[in-house]
Amino acid sequence: MPLIFRNIVTKAFDTDPTGVNVFYQKTEQLKAYDIYERYELLQRQVYTHLVHDMYASVRKEMSQLITSFMPKGKLVLELGCGIGHELYEISKAYPFEYYLGIDSSMRFLKSAQKFFVDGEKVTFELGRYGLDAQSFQFSGNSSLNFCLADAEDLPLTNDSADLLMHYFLFDRVSNPELLIREIRRVLRPGGVCICATPFNFSSLDNRNLYGDPQKLKGLFRQFDMLPISPEIVIPVEEALDIAGNKIVWNTHLFAFRKDV
Ligand SMILES: C[S@@+](CC[C@H](N)C(=O)[O-])C[C@H]1O[C@@H](n2cnc3c(N)ncnc32)[C@H](O)[C@@H]1O
Repeated sequence: MPLIFRNIVTKAFDTDPTGVNVFYQKTEQLKAYDIYERYELLQRQVYTHLVHDMYASVRKEMSQLITSFMPKGKLVLELGCGIGHELYEISKAYPFEYYLGIDSSMRFLKSAQKFFVDGEKVTFELGRYGLDAQSFQFSGNSSLNFCLADAEDLPLTNDSADLLMHYFLFDRVSNPELLIREIRRVLRPGGVCICATPFNFSSLDNRNLYGDPQKLKGLFRQFDMLPISPEIVIPVEEALDIAGNKIVWNTHLFAFRKDV
């Protein structure tokens, strides 16, 4: 376990046999209520990210943002990292020391660990998408670390992250205000937060409070984080099958910096 990780965590954790660091007890009942613990959702992540590279266009825009506003430092944090593909791509492209992915799905995190830390060959049945079974293997990277933790109550010290990103999470959490409060707390002064969201809220209350770019920017401003680039809107295509069916997510990309 690298020293940098020991130095930034504020809560006790266990490391499960697969290597995922577990910061809270997720009972079988909690897992049963969480759609992101379902195998079908894992297959969907694998198909959209590893077969189709759904975020290639977002990554291109993001790399321009990072190159323009590159915060020098050690730690990249991704909240709601899913199966960890974007964090892995960042680790290949930018020389930080340590990359921490946080999610609330144990199933996603275990896959992230296998793919991107252990470099294990993993085979998936993808018949529902019209494909034969597919195998994936990446070169493992031990500077990545995956944790089961709550993005609205992060087990991390203040001012610890240099770059923080979250894709398709803002509209999924139960309380976006808590999320942004935590982002401000764990980002170091001058640190950068990159956020991609299609504003596809699951709760009407959250949609009313935070459901457009002005409201999102207002929320970041409330926590002293100001935009450092014009908002970018990208149509992100999520392939549904080999017949060419797809969903188009009208994705808004923002970059904010925490006040020095
Ligand atoms: C729509 S998925 C997006 C996953 C990935 N970022 C992507 O864009 O493909 C939302 C992710 O956020 C995670 N999540 C939802 N609420 C969370 C919370 N409070 N803390 C940590 N992760 C959370 C889910 O488990 C899921 O992996």
